[in-house]
Amino acid sequence: MESNFIKLREFQEQDWQEVHRYASNPVVSQYQPWGPNTEEETKAFIADCLTDQETFPRKRCVFAITSQEKVIGAGEFQINDFTNEEGEIGFVVHPDYWGKGIASETAKKLLQFGFCEFQMHRIFATCDPRNLASARVLKKAGMKQEGLLRENIKLKSGWRDSLIFSMLKKEWEASEDFKKQQGF
Ligand SMILES: CC(C)(COP(=O)(O)OP(=O)(O)OC[C@H]1O[C@@H](n2cnc3c(N)ncnc32)[C@H](O)[C@@H]1OP(=O)(O)O)[C@@H](O)C(=O)NCCC(=O)NCCS
Repeated sequence: MESNFIKLREFQEQDWQEVHRYASNPVVSQYQPWGPNTEEETKAFIADCLTDQETFPRKRCVFAITSQEKVIGAGEFQINDFTNEEGEIGFVVHPDYWGKGIASETAKKLLQFGFCEFQMHRIFATCDPRNLASARVLKKAGMKQEGLLRENIKLKSGWRDSLIFSMLKKEWEASEDFKKQQGF
């Protein structure tokens, strides 16, 4: 998956050091149940990604976001429910690259991936209501806010609510991004 600015590719074992540069930063994980990572935790994350690559049927795809061959973040698509064709996306970007549209572009690529490669019916994403940048990214990617899950995530600082956003396949197919991809 390529664009003018970023490329998404599968993780490799040696990526852990570049991942660790952002995953060890407390600002990056302030709204997340993980982090700030120790080196061992970042290596375990990469090991899980490599295991996922060998799992059939594939349930989880975590992509390195790269710019000029450098890993600057990660984007994840996973199937949560095969029967109801439901997937979930998530993303993280190194703070040095925030505000350049990278997460928005990644979210759109992940939606395209989930609907086109995995034929999902519905893809959702959640974020902490305080995480205004993430909520903005999900809206910019064309997802609709459905509601608020109450205290569904346990952070080190206590229970956290989650905003929930989703897109349906028919909405994806009606989107400008889909039309661009189809060459309309
Ligand atoms: C959330 C995150 C992925 C955004 O990455 P990014 O590459 O900077 O995102 P983009 O540049 O594509 O878009 C960010 C949007 O949020 C807006 N934004 C940023 N901070 C904001 C704030 N405090 N209040 C309101 N909007 C904000 C930006 O202006 C931009 O919107 P715009 O294009 O309309 O101006 C990044 O901050 C991050 O990695 N955070 C830590 C991990 C995380 O929270 N991941 C999401 C898990 S749900």
